[in-house]
Amino acid sequence: MSPGHQIIGAIQLLLLLLCSLLLPTPSMTSLLKTETDDFIDWWQHAVFYQIYPRSFKDSNGDGIGDLQGIISKLPYLAETGITATWLSPIFQSPMVDFGYDISDFKSIQSEYGSMSDFEELVHTAARLGIKIILDFVPNHSSNQHEWFKKSAARAAGFEDYYVWADGQLDELGVRQPPNNWQSVFYGSAWEWNEQRKQYYLHQFTKEQPDLNFRNPVVVQAMDEVLLFWLNKGVAGFRIDAVNHLFENETLPDEPLSGQSTDPLSYDYTKHIYTKDLPEVLSMVQHWRKLLDDYTAQHPEDSTRIMMTEAYAGLTELMNYYEDSSGIMGSHLPFNFHFITDVNRESDARDFVYNVEKWLIYMPRGHAANWVIGNHDNPRVASRFGSASVDAMNMLLMTLPGVAVTYNGEELGMEDYRDISWKETVDPPARNAGELKFKMVSRDPVRTPFQWSNATNAGFSEAAKTWLPVHPNYLEMNLEAQQQAAKSHYRVYRSLIELRKLPILRRGKFSIEPLSRAVFAFKRTLKDYDTIIVVINVSGKEQLVNLTDFIDRPQQLIVEVAGVDSSYEPGAFIFLANNRSVSQQLRLSASAGIVLTEKQWGMSPQRRALVRQLIKSFNVVLVALLMYNLWRHKWTKVNFN
Ligand code: GLC
Repeated sequence: MSPGHQIIGAIQLLLLLLCSLLLPTPSMTSLLKTETDDFIDWWQHAVFYQIYPRSFKDSNGDGIGDLQGIISKLPYLAETGITATWLSPIFQSPMVDFGYDISDFKSIQSEYGSMSDFEELVHTAARLGIKIILDFVPNHSSNQHEWFKKSAARAAGFEDYYVWADGQLDELGVRQPPNNWQSVFYGSAWEWNEQRKQYYLHQFTKEQPDLNFRNPVVVQAMDEVLLFWLNKGVAGFRIDAVNHLFENETLPDEPLSGQSTDPLSYDYTKHIYTKDLPEVLSMVQHWRKLLDDYTAQHPEDSTRIMMTEAYAGLTELMNYYEDSSGIMGSHLPFNFHFITDVNRESDARDFVYNVEKWLIYMPRGHAANWVIGNHDNPRVASRFGSASVDAMNMLLMTLPGVAVTYNGEELGMEDYRDISWKETVDPPARNAGELKFKMVSRDPVRTPFQWSNATNAGFSEAAKTWLPVHPNYLEMNLEAQQQAAKSHYRVYRSLIELRKLPILRRGKFSIEPLSRAVFAFKRTLKDYDTIIVVINVSGKEQLVNLTDFIDRPQQLIVEVAGVDSSYEPGAFIFLANNRSVSQQLRLSASAGIVLTEKQWGMSPQRRALVRQLIKSFNVVLVALLMYNLWRHKWTKVNFN
């Protein structure tokens, strides 16, 4: 080889080396990969939309929502961007507690439809990319369930299906319940059964006797219920009132709480023998194993999950995720802190604390979840005020983890508090009596979904619906909000759209109170524009100085703004470092805003393209080098 050839060869080698250095490093490659496949399972960032079937959509004009009604609205859910929904109970029930009193765990309530309607629902939902989660109510059945009838009759094999106990005689020789336990819904938790001549326990209404989970036959029977619905294609379960599953077997009196003077009120005692017993955790872990085994045996479908309902302490809830020895429990122990721990009086620090405490306590590797409403608690608009609807949805949708929306919250529906005593059907409200029912009634949050301004808000053709429709439906309805240029529904939709960004799926999170009125949080991810959410929880307009909170306050773009905001999505906001008032963010009372902090320079897509070009260039170079070597050899053969 001539010295000239040698020099060219060396230059080529050097170039090759240089180009290899420019090739994506392993971490860059994984970044590119994660843009499409970011290792987050389907449920870890989903929006779970809770449907209250009785009030969602009536297809047959009887004034009661049903499965065909839900099927007809699945396209609405898909169009909104919902990928998972949980249905309050749809099983056969005398409807004392509107489906939470089940008389046959394996059949469909006839006023809701048939098993084939249910199969159609699962099938249609799957076609639209929506997963169905069912409500599993293990703590109790209806007193009309054949298990209870057999247990009351002491039929062989059923004697211990429920929690039975003898009464005690008072000093007058009158029979009294075994102890001082109260029902969550008011009054003694014990009811005398004349046939069996014993009391049975009911932590909810007397028509909801508690099943005895200390009996392995009951555990087995309830496992079969889970398997039955899994085989129908559901993606998992919301487990009802799970922390009530076990009671102390020796039935001791509970100590007084000092919070109430009414011995029949649930607040009268501390529930140390009837709630949050350690056995609950073992049962949750048992169901987790059942679900994991099922998923492993049926890998054609995605992970089957459970979400658990327990109004319990933080440490308990964290153990549900995973206990101290690493045993997995609930995928999503519901986080009700936005319902129970903050309200319209809370300031920015309370909100920040509320978010942080969950994230600090949550064991690593789990998905956070945020429940902002459900069928048991006042709606967002009624709890925080109607001006807060968009801000609360912004919060829900941009926090890390799972968001849970109760049907109607995407419109900002309000409680209908004027339901009369005569119209009231909720059992705890009926128990509270005519003078006090409004304080506890859940009917106001369960009124029919407001689809349009047609009769009964487009919910039903019936002359009378099971609960009255909120009279504000003429203005407050989905159709109006779909047509309006600005609406809560449109805000909600743009939030769901935004949520698809990798930065909201797996970006880092940090939150701070900026004042007593305003808090802000950031989501950050390498190569992505930082997302900033600013929320004013006060009832007054606030000027917000963001300069200490963000790196480049001059480079903000509005992503989502509330219906009353003066900022338009897509607009640039120029905030200077000089802290002059005119350069501050202006947030009206109870408003929120979602911003991006623009990273000037190359977008991740363009960076990926450049890397690709370098790679291709490298291939050409290698080819050239090979060609050169080959030519050199060829020359040698022919000319030496
Ligand atoms: C849960 C349900 C509630 C029901 C109760 C009894 O708390 O959410 O609606 O009344 O359990 O099943």
